[in-house]
Amino acid sequence: MEIVILPDADRVARTLADVITARVQSGPCTLGLATGSSPLGAYQELIRRYRAGEVSFRDCWAVLLDEYVGLAPGHEQSYARVIRDEFTGQVDLPPDHVLVPDGSAQDLPAAAAEFERRRHEVGPVAVQVLGIGANGHLGFNEPGSSLGSRTRIKTLTEQTRADNARFFGADETVPVHVLTQGLATILEAEHLVLVATGTGKADAVAAAAEGPLTASCPASVLQLHPHATVVVDEAAAGSLAHADRYRRQLALKPDWQPL
Ligand code: F6R
Repeated sequence: MEIVILPDADRVARTLADVITARVQSGPCTLGLATGSSPLGAYQELIRRYRAGEVSFRDCWAVLLDEYVGLAPGHEQSYARVIRDEFTGQVDLPPDHVLVPDGSAQDLPAAAAEFERRRHEVGPVAVQVLGIGANGHLGFNEPGSSLGSRTRIKTLTEQTRADNARFFGADETVPVHVLTQGLATILEAEHLVLVATGTGKADAVAAAAEGPLTASCPASVLQLHPHATVVVDEAAAGSLAHADRYRRQLALKPDWQPL
C-alpha cells in the first residue's frame, strides 16, 4: 500500500483526477466510482478537464460501489442520480454505460447477483475510487463485513446514517438498508485509490493502513491488494504512526514510477 500525504484537499482531488486521467487516456476502461463527499473535488476537476478538451470518457464505463434500498427511482439522493448529477452526466460518458446496483428491485438478492454478473461483463475495473467511513467502512461494508463478501444487502449502522443525514432533507429519513459491492468484489479492481480528507477520517485511515487486517475495520482489506493507494491531506493523516516514512518514500519516488 502506498500512502500519499498532501498539504490539502485540493491537492488530494487533483491527484485522484491525475490517476483517472492517465488511465482513461491510455485506452477504453471501466472506472469504479464512489459517491459521498470525498471524491467530489476530483470529479469537478475531471469535468473541468473534459470541458477543456483534455480528456474524454466516451469509451468508458462507470460502475458504482453501492446504492440505497427503498428510495424511489430518480430520488435525488439515490446514488444513481448523485453520480449522474455530480460527474457522469457532466462529461461525455454514455448514460447507458453507468452500472448501479438496483436498490429499488423487489428481489434484492437477484438484483445483487445481476449487478455482479454485469460488473464482470463490463469489467475489469481499472481504477476503483474509494472513500472511507469514520468507522472504517468501505463501500457500505460496515464493521463486521466478511472480507470475502460479494454484492449483497447490508444494514447501515446508526453512525453512518447520522453521517449521511446531511445529504437528506430535514423531513426525510436516511434508508436503513443498502446494496453494496462486497469487499472481495472491490478487491478485483486493478488499482484501488482511497481518498480521505479532514480530521474526522484520521483514526479510520490509520486503522485501515496501519492496524490489523480485520473485518472490524473493513477498509483494512486494502492491505491485501497489490496496488492500493491511499491519498490523504495532512488532517486525515493526523493519526498515522509512520507519516514521516510515507513522506520520505514519496519524496524519493522515482519520476518514472506513477502512483
Ligand atoms: C459511497 C461509499 C461510502 C463513502 C464513505 C465516505 O459510495 O461507498 O463508503 O465513500 O461513507 O463518505 P464521505 O466521502 O461522504 O465522507
